[in-house]
Amino acid sequence: MKGIVLAGGTGSRLHPLTLSVSKQLMPIYDKPMVYYPLSTLMYAGIQEILIISTPKDLPLFQELLGDGKKCGCSFSYAVQDAPKGLAEAFVIGEEFIGNDKVALILGDNVFYGAGLAKLLQSNNNPDGGIIYAYRVNDPQRYGVVEFDESGKVISIEEKPKVPKSNYVVPGIYFYDNEVVSIAKTIQPSSRGELEITDVNKEYLKKGKLNVSILDRGTAWLDTGTFQALMQASQFVEVIEERQGLVIGSLELAAFEMGYISKTEFIELAQPLTKSGYGNKLLGILNKEV
Ligand code: DAU
Repeated sequence: MKGIVLAGGTGSRLHPLTLSVSKQLMPIYDKPMVYYPLSTLMYAGIQEILIISTPKDLPLFQELLGDGKKCGCSFSYAVQDAPKGLAEAFVIGEEFIGNDKVALILGDNVFYGAGLAKLLQSNNNPDGGIIYAYRVNDPQRYGVVEFDESGKVISIEEKPKVPKSNYVVPGIYFYDNEVVSIAKTIQPSSRGELEITDVNKEYLKKGKLNVSILDRGTAWLDTGTFQALMQASQFVEVIEERQGLVIGSLELAAFEMGYISKTEFIELAQPLTKSGYGNKLLGILNKEV
């Protein structure tokens, strides 16, 4: 399965922070934001990943992430000329996707939870679409899922004024290859975007949309406001410093998934010890031994 990280957009809700630097390069504690979704795809078992961003920001992602080889992956890059919607990722990525299935993750979505990697791995061969539902207090800001009494999904609505439930769709999606043709046929919404929700509605109509509820033990962090960005950093700091874990590390994801050897992992960590990040990675290794 292939993966796409969508890391474009204007970042206007974080101006002036993001006037000259991409939102997805903002720090969340000690790593650039994009590390978190990228490592989530790696933990899902995906090694071939396309990073999509704006013409201005794409070179920065290339400089930061390179070709992915040192993490046992292959990273490639593509431009989205204007923020025309999440579903455009599949049109831009058509050639990259080829005949494969594909997962999309939004470059500003941070997930963390025990058992999450296993859940994502179990979903990485979809027949149709697989999305998640997560309970929040402010559903009107998201794609909202409505269930019937038996737990079957009956509707999905993008940012409804009157949400039919508190369950919303987080920014990670798994699809079969048909997503490319579906993305090409949907029309821009009233806000002028190719909506991922319209792609999901199409799969729902065909009876091929699987929605699984992300349990409450999984953290899905918001990064859309100054306060949320700060809280995400604090969350990562608390977990990492208290429990000695490392969240959102590309190096650790590569090692834990077996994409690189222990020697390669040590070689990646060692040049990063001055900031303390490399030491944390090496510390994990000592705990494992
Ligand atoms: O976060 C999950 C939500 O993401 C879903 O529940 C919604 O159904 C989905 O539409 C989307 O909601 P938003 O409208 O809040 O997404 P936003 O416009 O903030 O874009 C999400 C990220 O994708 C953001 O980092 C910018 C980037 N982006 C966005 C657009 C529209 C792009 O790279 N290109 C784009 O064309």
